[in-house]
Amino acid sequence: MRSKLMLILALVALVALALACAPAPAPTAAPATAAPKPTEAPKQLKGELNLLCTPQQIWCEGMKKEFEAKYPGVTVNFVRLSSGESLTRLRNEKANPQFDIWWGGPIDSFIAAKKEGLLEPYKSPGHANIIDPKLMLDNDPNPQWVGIYVGSLGFATNENYLKAHSGFKAPTSLDDLIKPELKGQIVIAHPASSGTSYTFLCTVLQIKGEQAGWEYMKKFAANVLMWTKSGAAPAQNVGKGEAAVGVVFSHDIVAEMERGLPLKLTFPAEGTGYEIGGMGIVKGAKHPDLAKAWYDWALEAKTQELGKKYTAYQGLTIKGAQPPKPELLQVKLINYNFDYCGGNKKAFVDKFSNEIAAASLAK
Ligand code: G6P
Repeated sequence: MRSKLMLILALVALVALALACAPAPAPTAAPATAAPKPTEAPKQLKGELNLLCTPQQIWCEGMKKEFEAKYPGVTVNFVRLSSGESLTRLRNEKANPQFDIWWGGPIDSFIAAKKEGLLEPYKSPGHANIIDPKLMLDNDPNPQWVGIYVGSLGFATNENYLKAHSGFKAPTSLDDLIKPELKGQIVIAHPASSGTSYTFLCTVLQIKGEQAGWEYMKKFAANVLMWTKSGAAPAQNVGKGEAAVGVVFSHDIVAEMERGLPLKLTFPAEGTGYEIGGMGIVKGAKHPDLAKAWYDWALEAKTQELGKKYTAYQGLTIKGAQPPKPELLQVKLINYNFDYCGGNKKAFVDKFSNEIAAASLAK
């Protein structure tokens, strides 16, 4: 599965690159008899769309602006919440949903949300354009979630820390993170609130097995200085020199490097976990037509290519969409089992909170 994903993503990148470099096909006059097809004017949608947005604030703001430009009669109200917070909100509001669509954050939480009856089924025309539907589309005759981007987990190391500690090398394996020299020198989000951190937890459990994985997490937690709420925040904490190493999605690390933070990006040689960013319509959404319009729009190649305007460098999931930094997915990925991680999310997060984080905070 992993090698298939890597092959597909590499092919997508090559095709996109070839299309971008290929000379524009010579314009050919349409045969005289061909009547120009009437272009379908975007439907005059009106009203307010309530968006639950999990990626970075800057991208949420950008997507609001872009959608409102396409549908001038629509106002998008959004709240930016991390994956775990979003799941909690949807659970708490099940009887009276305040959001219409949930966009972004790893699909582990969408699989958990589906299990709890928090999403609506919807068959979008955009599903036909997904590059790998087996992996990126809910395997259900009435799909309740779909993948909109792909991101690999990376390690961010402060460059000044490296200069000041000549014997220390940026981590290139999970076991590097539990070395005593990193005590109090790691920042990562808490898996209860963050999908980034939950992806790391479930990656560890898959690579090491559950028993050894939980033992590893105890040692890892002893090295954690701070458990942030949002998954991308540790790149900033480490960039400011508050700690030596952060565990964050690689595209967020690159975005902070571009903003000038002194970070070095590395990956675990044994393989790293990855996310498929998800999207789903909220069960009982009060504005289903607007939610469907957003959903269909988010599955267009040109919409997915907007991300780089807002420093969102994830891989993309629609045929023909050119990923901004395909190299971030050309690393060794584990065969991440989304059903296993999504199906066990509540149990694993509860176990982490009760047995690992509590001990770590008590130190
Ligand atoms: C960042 C990343 C996204 C990821 C999201 C998860 O915004 O760019 O790719 O899906 O974090 O957020 P969380 O705060 O739940 O880890």
